[in-house]
Amino acid sequence: MASQAASINEAGSGMTRREFLYYIWGSSIVLLTAQTIGLTVWFLIPRFREGEFGGRFILPIESLPEQNAPPENFADGRFWLSNLNTEQPNELMYQAPDEGPIIGAVAIYKVCTHLGCIYAWTPANDRFECPCHGSKYRLDGRRIEAPAPRTLDRFKMYALADDKSTVLAESQLSNNFFDPMKVPDGTAFLSIDTGDRKQGPSDPLLCDFTGTCP
Ligand code: FES
Repeated sequence: MASQAASINEAGSGMTRREFLYYIWGSSIVLLTAQTIGLTVWFLIPRFREGEFGGRFILPIESLPEQNAPPENFADGRFWLSNLNTEQPNELMYQAPDEGPIIGAVAIYKVCTHLGCIYAWTPANDRFECPCHGSKYRLDGRRIEAPAPRTLDRFKMYALADDKSTVLAESQLSNNFFDPMKVPDGTAFLSIDTGDRKQGPSDPLLCDFTGTCP
């Protein structure tokens, strides 16, 4: 008699207990699916905006120094821009015996590979020097003197046309390190992706070739 009364009450409210549970279950599934989609989209959206470290920096081509000239400092992006050409006679970008020609632009991370100090270009000595423990690096970031354990890290670069979206060239990888990017004719902007950094290799010290290591 009691269950008969309950059924009548449920029927009177317009929804049975089973239907009610189905609605709860269905709503939970919809909510869970929405949460999953929302989280996926949130993870896919880049965390860094253009123009802040971790994101991309778009610079006019005029920002790139002349070939083998001292590097340009971009403090906000935490990188140096160098433009290299060992086939042109120069004093800053000399070629070591274990290297082929080095031609193109590089974006070099401003943090020393030893213990993370901020090094700087030293015009008097034509090289990067770290104030903390004395590591030295060439114009392209290759280490000259220890204690740096490896060459300076590099960011990925793109050469863009004047619409800022057509990619004319981009940094290529050799042994998981960005080669200098040859800048094609027609390049109007450079894009540096500070979210895409590769560690420099542990090449021999350049001072070993000249016998000038301290
Ligand atoms: S942190 Fe640069 S040499 Fe030690």
